[in-house]
Order: sequence, then C-alpha cells, then structure tokens
Amino acid sequence: MKILVIHGPNLNMLGKREPAHYGMETMEDINRQMAEKGLQIGMTLDFFQSNHEGMIVDTIQSAYGRYDGLIINPAAYTHTSLAIRDALLLLDIPVIEVHLSNIYKREPFRHHSVIADVVAGQVTGFGSNGYLLAMDAVFQMKRQ
Ligand code: DQA
Repeated sequence: MKILVIHGPNLNMLGKREPAHYGMETMEDINRQMAEKGLQIGMTLDFFQSNHEGMIVDTIQSAYGRYDGLIINPAAYTHTSLAIRDALLLLDIPVIEVHLSNIYKREPFRHHSVIADVVAGQVTGFGSNGYLLAMDAVFQMKRQ
C-alpha cells in the first residue's frame, strides 16, 4: 500500500512554531514515526512539504494513479484554497485531512475547512498522533 503525505505551509517549522498549539515534535519526527508504523503495517509512505499553494496542487495532480491513499494537512490553506479542493476532486483514493490542533476549538476563521466535504474524513486535535490515526483510517478503508 503506497501513501502520499502532504504537509502544508509552516509545518516545516514544527517544533519551533507555536508549541502550545502544535507541540514540540518536528515534521521530521512525525515523518519518522509514520515511516516506522508503515514498516509495521506494510505501508510505504512518500512525504512532501511546501509553503506554496501551486506546488501542493502540482503534487496532488502528480499523485493521480500512483497512490492508494493521501494524508494531507493543508495548514492555513485548509481555510482558503479552492485550488487544493479542486485538485483533491481529481483523486479517487481515500484522502484523510489531518490537523494537529482541534481547529473547532480555535479562532472562528479556522472552523471552516474548504476541503472537509471532499475528503473521506478529518482527524483534528490529536497532535502528531493524528497522522498515525489517519494511517489506520486509510488502512481500514483499503481493506474493506
Ligand atoms: C493546522 C491548523 C490550521 O488552522 C493552521 O493554519 C495550521 C495548522 C493544524 O495542524 O492544526 O497551520 O492545520
């Protein structure tokens, strides 16, 4: 099973960035934990991070036909990017939306995700563990 993981803007600064919201782990720590879990459950993961909306769109497009699932934290683009939403509609694989923080417990402008209704499901508020939960979600969906 081959899964693509996309980290959106500013997630490359995890560990330094607003630890009260996002914790102390770095993006590399999260990727390592996911890769380790992947080895255990037979999932191969590719990781991509960008601060640029168009590069995220390009990467989603290039995933077409190549992956069994997509785990994406679009970060701030969650709340604004119709381009990312439209790109996700191209894919016919399970897409799981992940947020480290619980976006519904934060500022009102974070309560709306423009991709929520085009993904299989959302994992929000469980910190880095949310990415591991998302892996379980993809795994179960593909086995059904
Ligand atoms: C985030 C929540 C977003 O509102 C924010 O812009 C982020 C990170 C999260 O993982 O909790 O950058 O997606």
